[in-house]
Amino acid sequence: MPTFQTSPGMRDILPPESARWRRLHNIFADTVEAAGYGQVMTPLIEDIGVFTRIGDATDVVTKEMYDFHDKGDRHVSLRPELTASVCRAFAEHRPITPWKVWYAGPNFRYEKPQRGRFRQFDQVGVEVLGVDDADLDVEVIALAWEFYRALGLQQVNLIVNSLGEPEDRQAYVDALRSHFEAVGDGLTEQSRVTLAKNPLRVLDSKREPDAEHIASAPTIADFHSAEAAAHFAKVQAGLDALGIPFTVEPKLVRGLDYYRRTIFEFQGLTLDSAQNALGGGGRYDGLVEALGGPATAGIGFALGVDRTLLACDDEGVFESAPRVLDAFVVDVTGGAAAVELTAELRSAGLAADRGFENRSMKAQMKLANRSGATHAVIIGADELADGTAIVKPMSRDAGDQQTIPRSDVVAHLQQKTER
Ligand code: HAM
Repeated sequence: MPTFQTSPGMRDILPPESARWRRLHNIFADTVEAAGYGQVMTPLIEDIGVFTRIGDATDVVTKEMYDFHDKGDRHVSLRPELTASVCRAFAEHRPITPWKVWYAGPNFRYEKPQRGRFRQFDQVGVEVLGVDDADLDVEVIALAWEFYRALGLQQVNLIVNSLGEPEDRQAYVDALRSHFEAVGDGLTEQSRVTLAKNPLRVLDSKREPDAEHIASAPTIADFHSAEAAAHFAKVQAGLDALGIPFTVEPKLVRGLDYYRRTIFEFQGLTLDSAQNALGGGGRYDGLVEALGGPATAGIGFALGVDRTLLACDDEGVFESAPRVLDAFVVDVTGGAAAVELTAELRSAGLAADRGFENRSMKAQMKLANRSGATHAVIIGADELADGTAIVKPMSRDAGDQQTIPRSDVVAHLQQKTER
């Protein structure tokens, strides 16, 4: 028989690790819902055109798309990110603005798998459409910061930059092009290819021969219009006011083409530099229009869940903790008593599991131990006959076992577990 494994860059997340993922999603949801964001759920598959709006000079679009023709011969793709999908949804449904939404879920990019870089990876994020105010940039950045704090992460750097207004950006791109063209063969071949498509992207190169030419390249701040400079100054003042430490990184451009004005990235200091972006985002005024909607200001971020959890592992915070069971029912009288008692415990809000297949007392007690339950509730022949059950604390220092009427088991455990 053939055997199968997950495809490269894809992973199974098994319990108890999966419970940690859900806790992370819950913490994120709590953080952003407390700030007025509602969850948006968009399909995993969209028309390829939705994603080509991300920018045809980005690797995400040119090399990494999981695209195919469906049975109706539509050219579609698995989503490589959610911002374009959210803007497509906005253009389609025209909700009232400000539209503040959050999301969580998998994305797909055909990248070279390595630690912290997967082909299926999970993101949590927010997008806000219809608000052109630097205070919102501050709110959005602060939410991500608060989320990292809630997980217990400390070794996170926030870097920010502004790409200016579209005209500033264009003037800067032209200046960069002239600068890098003058360098000629001094750039690596890959960067020369990138230069032809989008000079900004050359700044992303981590290849050694490119480093000195990137260092001597012009910086965007010199091209900021008064309006863009004022917006960026207000963002920085807001972050200062909230006590959120940040560094202005004048060469930060981010890997997607839709950004204008404020951009930011969170770097995990414990991760390898090639994969140290825990999350990032920025303004993308213009993307909704590119997707057929009205001119709409937009800003948001996405945080990589896989990398965030790697950073948590490195820092020894937000550890995996399976849900503790309150009871494990051991019934060696055929199982009918366990059916009722387990259901009763569960409907009273207690977490309960049980043994099956009428296994021996020894085998079921082994399962009870392994389950991590705080108590075993045991029904043998005597207890069945008397209408009682033995409640046995599973940790040695939690007292002795007791035989009590079966009808008292729920109340007894509720008292013990304070549920
Ligand atoms: P991004 O920088 O492409 O931005 O991705 C955001 C985060 O997703 C990254 O910082 C990283 O943590 C994680 N990530 C990306 N690719 C991978 C991968 N192959 N494996 C593991 N993790 C990965 C966006 O996606 C934008 N949509 C963010 C945004 C929202 N901008 C405005 N709104």
